[in-house]
Amino acid sequence: MQHATITVADLFAGIGGIALGLKRAGFKILWANEMDANACKTYSTNFKHKLYKCEIQKLNPDNLPKVDMLAAGFPCQAFSIAGYRKGFGDTRGTLFFDIMRFVDSIHPKYLFLENVKNLERHDNGNTFKVILHELEKRGYYVKHKVLNTCEYSDVPQNRERIYIIAFKNKAVYEAFEFPKKTTKHKAICDLLDDSTDEKYYYDNKTPFYSILKKEMTNRCTVYQWRRVYLRENKNNVCPTLTANMGMGGHNVPLVLDSKGVRKLTPRECARFQGFPETYKFPDIANSALYKQFGNSVSVPVIETVAKEIMKAIKKVS
Ligand SMILES: C[S@@+](CC[C@H](N)C(=O)[O-])C[C@H]1O[C@@H](n2cnc3c(N)ncnc32)[C@H](O)[C@@H]1O
Repeated sequence: MQHATITVADLFAGIGGIALGLKRAGFKILWANEMDANACKTYSTNFKHKLYKCEIQKLNPDNLPKVDMLAAGFPCQAFSIAGYRKGFGDTRGTLFFDIMRFVDSIHPKYLFLENVKNLERHDNGNTFKVILHELEKRGYYVKHKVLNTCEYSDVPQNRERIYIIAFKNKAVYEAFEFPKKTTKHKAICDLLDDSTDEKYYYDNKTPFYSILKKEMTNRCTVYQWRRVYLRENKNNVCPTLTANMGMGGHNVPLVLDSKGVRKLTPRECARFQGFPETYKFPDIANSALYKQFGNSVSVPVIETVAKEIMKAIKKVS
């Protein structure tokens, strides 16, 4: 049976990790919104659909095409809901309520939200309660789960994120189940280049170079410099990639290769988020690329959750 296309709007779109995962699962992205100029460059280099390059606060959803699904990997700053709790009803500056503004105009059948694991515990659980309440009072049935990238995809990164999926249709909600853990795992060295450009390598101009040289002995692990000591990640996964990789210093994880000790390259960071080799980088500074891939999502995890949503929709229709 031919199923209708399920259309999506991608809010807080970043560089399109959520868009790519949804697209691979068969969803059709109609438009997106992102305010960061560099992230917009990466997004537009890889997608043809309309990208509104501005703050979400400046967009009026009444003037935008209707979609079946709203997707949003919204930033953590959206957690400041103190005014709401005190009953002021003042939701200015709280990005979660911008998502609700779009929901109230577009009335999507599905919501795909992604955030840091700690969202559930933030403010003693009050933030999460508010989020669930806001969704349920609009008639959504909600399922949520924390998934770790290295358990739900073959990508060896330790990245625990909460996925919140909301459905207007109770039967689809009941049919939906989060994916099962995978047994397939890539090794760290499968994602590393054997050697790369000189600029990524450390040398004796770095004060702690002698420690790196002595202690970095394993080619299939990822290390981190922690102010005064070297940390080896022994569980065969890359530590969580974060936006502060773009801030310089020694925030980019380290590896040993045939030429010496060096930082991960932006392309390797892209691989640790499950982006394909064909994902294009625009001509922007490496610091912007590091930040973007730290801020992004693990594409295969998005894809596997999205496929389960698609399965539930098809089962019910
Ligand atoms: C956690 S990242 C999302 C990453 C994205 N889901 C991806 O797959 O790459 C949050 C994004 O929200 C954007 N952002 C933050 N505040 C915004 C606002 N007021 N309006 C529009 N975008 C905003 C940031 O620039 C950042 O790219």
